[in-house]
Formats: sequence, structure tokens, C-alpha cells
Amino acid sequence: MERLPEIRDIALQKGGDKRLRSFSIWEICQFMLKIPPDTLRKKLADNPTLPQGEVAADGRQRWFTLTEVNELRRRIKFRGRLLLPERPKGRAIRTAVANFKAGGGKTTLAQHFAHSAALDGYRVLVVDFDTTAVLTQAMGLRDVDASHTLWGVICRDLYQNSTENMPEQVQSIGALRAQDFIHNTCWPTIDIIPASAETAFAEFALAKFRKLDPKWDYYAAVDRYLNALPHDQYDIILFDCPPAIDQKALNAFFAADILYVPTGPTYSEFESTAAFLRQLARASGEIKTDFAALRVLLTKFMSSDAQHLATQAAYQNGYGADLAAHPLEWTELLDQPDASRESVFETDYRQMTREEWKTARRSFDLAYAEFRETVMQVWLENEP
Ligand SMILES: Nc1ncnc2c1ncn2[C@@H]1O[C@H](COP(=O)(O)OP(=O)(O)OP(=O)(O)O)[C@@H](O)[C@H]1O
Ligand SMILES: [Mg+2]
Repeated sequence: MERLPEIRDIALQKGGDKRLRSFSIWEICQFMLKIPPDTLRKKLADNPTLPQGEVAADGRQRWFTLTEVNELRRRIKFRGRLLLPERPKGRAIRTAVANFKAGGGKTTLAQHFAHSAALDGYRVLVVDFDTTAVLTQAMGLRDVDASHTLWGVICRDLYQNSTENMPEQVQSIGALRAQDFIHNTCWPTIDIIPASAETAFAEFALAKFRKLDPKWDYYAAVDRYLNALPHDQYDIILFDCPPAIDQKALNAFFAADILYVPTGPTYSEFESTAAFLRQLARASGEIKTDFAALRVLLTKFMSSDAQHLATQAAYQNGYGADLAAHPLEWTELLDQPDASRESVFETDYRQMTREEWKTARRSFDLAYAEFRETVMQVWLENEP
């Protein structure tokens, strides 16, 4: 047992020191700003006060941080328009990523949508509802104080909404400020309310607290917390749920506008997803969850596999328009046990050919474009 911290440090080495890489003009123009590279080069040459990036050691390419790219978005116009993404009024749109099946691709989906949205110029908040804290580590956090996690958010809600005498632990967390639960990540425009393995006891403790105050609507804690944040602090909020419908997940469902259900392309996953949605419908009856949109999304999909194609057809029959049109393809890039969990966007394309990298990210870009469209529809419907 004595060597445990050491082993963990080795496992998390990359995750703990995680830094976001820089982006080349080719990548920025093709995938982020969507303007011709010559246009950007000319604008940079014409205006030396714009961020100029850093020239790589080989002296050929300029590399820009995401913060610099975002400044370019604010300061450059192309065909008379600024390069900022569309942002309707009102609070951020919240999407829960959930399913029963462990290892079905929930965290990968939440992580990739968060990264895509940040590359698109949005300010993102991710909330890690899973005490295994995989997303928290993937976002570069380690050694998070258990009180400053999602668990803390729920305890603070109990403290604020109950007149009963609360245990000391709840009182001390209750004294924290709303922003104390929000942490920076290795991405400048992605924040996180993290999870911590130390809060694995949360489910039992929550059941105990509910007995202390039976009137406490525990499932609305996260919704209340997010409602109280300044509405313009974030644009897109993503919830990474545990592989269960537990008390924490009920908080995610209650607060969410949109539900994304990632699922694998095999028949057993088809059945377990149907079971998940049936159980959720039952739970939703109890807590009155009403999603503005539901999307079932195939993950780890191989279009060359006849069985995957047959299962896709079954999903299409079963879910119709609720099946996301673009499955996430299986890619070797993500088939890695590393705690740093580099996304396809974090991977530097110089580690492979540009074609290989473009192929790996293609399905993630298509899935994100569809997600963004869904978010935008809900946002415009919600606009005050
Ligand atoms: N498109 C993909 N191609 C290859 N591997 C993938 C893909 N999506 C996910 N994986 C891998 O599958 C494994 C499980 O994925 P992930 O952690 O996202 O699932 P999960 O549903 O969040 O799991 P859990 O229920 O344990 O939280 C990970 O090792 C991940 O890297
Ligand atoms: Mg997960």
C-alpha cells in the first residue's frame, strides 16, 4: 500500500501535467475560423497588434494558443462578419451524456463535445457526475479537495434549503461560495465542476441526508446551483454521468435541457440502451424531467462492419429522428488506457499524416455539428 501514491503518480503523470498544445494556421483556418489561410496571413501582416503566434523551431509554421485564436475571433472580420460563434441570449444550454452501460463512450463524448465547442469559440462548463473522475483527470486535474466537487454543490444546496440542524460536514461545505466548485482546466475556455474518487460514499451520505430533511428535493440541487450562476458565464454546459440512474444522475437529468445517449453498435448494447430509456422514463415520471431534445448516438462505429450496419438499421427503426445522423467512428487514437485521455483534438497531427488525423476527427466534427444544431434550436426556443 505504501507505494500506492507513487504508482498513481506514474499513471497520472501525463494527465497531471496536461497542457493544451498550440494550433497552426492550416488547422485554425480549416477547422476553427473557416477562412482561407492567405486571408489570415494577410490580416496578420497588415496588423502587427494582432496576436502573431510563435514560430516553430523548424522556422516554418506559426503556432497560436487557443487564447490567441479567440482574440483573433474577436478582432478579425471576414466578409463583414466577426468570427465569433452564434450565441442566443439567456442561460447556457445544458446537455447530459448518459447511459447504463459502462465503457459505452459517455466520457469520450462529453470530452469531445467540450473540446469541439471550445475550439468553436464557446465558453464551456463540464460537470463530472461520476465519482471515478475520469473526465476530471482527462481535463488535467488531480488531487481535488472532495468538498470542492459536485458532491460539495449538492451538500451546499442542502445547507441552503433546509431549516433542519445539519451535520458539521454539511455546515462547512455550506459556507463555500458558488464559484469555489468551479475549477480551471488545461483548456482556457473550459471550466469544470470536478468529481473525486473520495466522494464514492456520496450515494449513501445523500440517502442519509434525505432522511434528515425529507422535504429536501435533492434532485433539483444542481439545477438550482446552475440557475444561480451569471447567465452569461458559459455558453455550453455538459454533464458526464455515471453508468447508473443514481441520485447524482437524477440531478443531471433534472437540470438538463438535452439528453445525449451514446451507445455501441452491437445488439446487446441496443437492448441495454432501450432498457436505460425505459427506466429513465419511469424515474422521469417521479422527478418531472422533460428534455427539449433526445439524441441516441452510435459510438465506436465501423462502417466496414456488417454487424454494425445491421445494428445501425435497428437503431434507426427504433429511434427514428432521435438517432443522431452521424455515428462516432472507432479510432485507434482513442483506444488507449492512458489516464491523460488525449482527445483527437488534443493529439498533434504531426504525430501522423494529416490524412490520418483528418480521418480520425471527421466523425467527431460531424457529430459536433449536429450537436451544435440541436443546441441552437433549443437555445432559440428558450431565448427570453
Ligand atoms: N470512438 C472510439 N474509438 C476507440 N475507442 C474509444 C472510442 N470511444 C471511446 N473509446 C474508448 O472506450 C473506453 C470507454 O470509453 P468511455 O470512458 O468514454 O466510456 P464511458 O461510458 O464513459 O465509461 P464509464 O461507464 O466507465 O464511465 C475508453 O478506453 C475510450 O478511450
Ligand atoms: Mg465515463
